[in-house]
Amino acid sequence: MSDKQPEKQSEKQPERSTTLTVLMTPDLANFSGHVHGGAILRLLDQVAYVCAARYCGRYVVTASVDQVSFRAPVHVGELVTFKASVNYTGKTSMEVGVRVEAESIRTRTVRHVITCYFTMIAVNDEGRPIPTTPLVPETPNERRRWAAGQLRSTLRKEIERRSLEIKQNPEELLVSCPLPEIKLPSKQTPKP
Ligand SMILES: CC(C)(COP(=O)(O)OP(=O)(O)OC[C@H]1O[C@@H](n2cnc3c(N)ncnc32)[C@H](O)[C@@H]1OP(=O)(O)O)[C@@H](O)C(=O)NCCC(=O)NCCS
Repeated sequence: MSDKQPEKQSEKQPERSTTLTVLMTPDLANFSGHVHGGAILRLLDQVAYVCAARYCGRYVVTASVDQVSFRAPVHVGELVTFKASVNYTGKTSMEVGVRVEAESIRTRTVRHVITCYFTMIAVNDEGRPIPTTPLVPETPNERRRWAAGQLRSTLRKEIERRSLEIKQNPEELLVSCPLPEIKLPSKQTPKP
């Protein structure tokens, strides 16, 4: 069996992955002729929404998005494929990983342009968090993604906690982490 074949999903578990392919049309271009980053971000959010909402059968909201790095530009005329999957579930949260690939139609070359992680929360009609369907990882790939998702979830909480500390105690942090001395360039005497 080839590595590229999709993994068989459990009969009992709901659909946990979603794939969307979009043609990059000229209306998505920025001034340099490449696809505008914001256009890709909008599609990323939509695909993460579809993936999480379809998985839990609830409305969901985006709580956070981890760092998004564009590894390469995307060009008008290319096909961009968003491969999303629910990697990990907490009580109400779901981590959705999205891998984005750009494909040149004429050369058939495929480039990996982004991988990023969304935290989506299942909500009720009032927008309050409600329990999601617990994910049961079954295949080795799902177990690997689940473990990585759990680790990232812990890291997010740690970053959130440290960021709050920085916000609440900026003076204390300035003492323990003094700013570097900045040397201003000496004034040059203007040439006659
Ligand atoms: C996301 C939201 C529902 C969480 O509400 P809350 O009162 O903080 O809820 P809780 O503290 O009970 O946390 C609920 C879950 O969200 C997770 N969460 C909350 N803030 C988070 C963040 N910034 N990043 C990642 N996860 C987060 C918690 O870890 C928890 O997960 P768990 O149940 O799996 O343990 C609320 O902050 C909200 O409505 N935000 C706006 C969402 C939105 O409108 N998005 C679109 C922006 S245009």
